[in-house]
Amino acid sequence: MGKILVVTYSFTGTGARLTELLCRSRDWASAQVVERRPRKSWITLRCALESLFRLKPPILYKGPDPADFDLVVLVAPIWLTRLASPMRSFVASFRGSLRKVAVVSVMGGKGGQNAPAEIGGILDRAPFMSTSFTMREVDDGSYAPRLLAFAAALDAATDPGGEMRPFVLSPETAG
Ligand SMILES: Cc1cc2nc3c(=O)[nH]c(=O)nc-3n(C[C@H](O)[C@H](O)[C@H](O)COP(=O)(O)O)c2cc1C
Repeated sequence: MGKILVVTYSFTGTGARLTELLCRSRDWASAQVVERRPRKSWITLRCALESLFRLKPPILYKGPDPADFDLVVLVAPIWLTRLASPMRSFVASFRGSLRKVAVVSVMGGKGGQNAPAEIGGILDRAPFMSTSFTMREVDDGSYAPRLLAFAAALDAATDPGGEMRPFVLSPETAG
């Protein structure tokens, strides 16, 4: 299996629950993105302004060097139908250390597909795989089978011995 790291920014704890299951079910490392300035009473306004203007607030990264991993799974919420700003800061700051990324977004119900698109724009290449979950799926537990299937697919795809030989994909190209 390849080495996989899960980097999470979670404001209200929903994404953190996904990370917990991912890392408990697989032998994956975990890291957190936290904000330098904690959000207080005017939190929603600040989240909204940062999302609207695609700002990159100062963050602290707590974890191992992402460059040491074959794949980094980014777990982040959606704010105003966009990627939550602290994860935007992380991706921009660690751009050169992210070889291959997968994206898991969490949301109320709208905008999940925008997170991989935005991350792909920052990195100049599309994420390897992506998926999104609603808060409701996380609250009622129905997220688990799909998240575990996603994790299994990532493990299989980063297995160095698991690459298909050309003739399996196309007998013509294999000659
Ligand atoms: C400022 C703000 C804006 C949000 N905007 C959206 C949105 O546009 N679409 C959506 O589906 N959910 C939106 N949400 C809901 C979050 O994406 C959702 O609660 C998510 O599960 C939070 O993840 P977390 O608990 O890991 O922080 C927003 C939440 C906040 C605080």
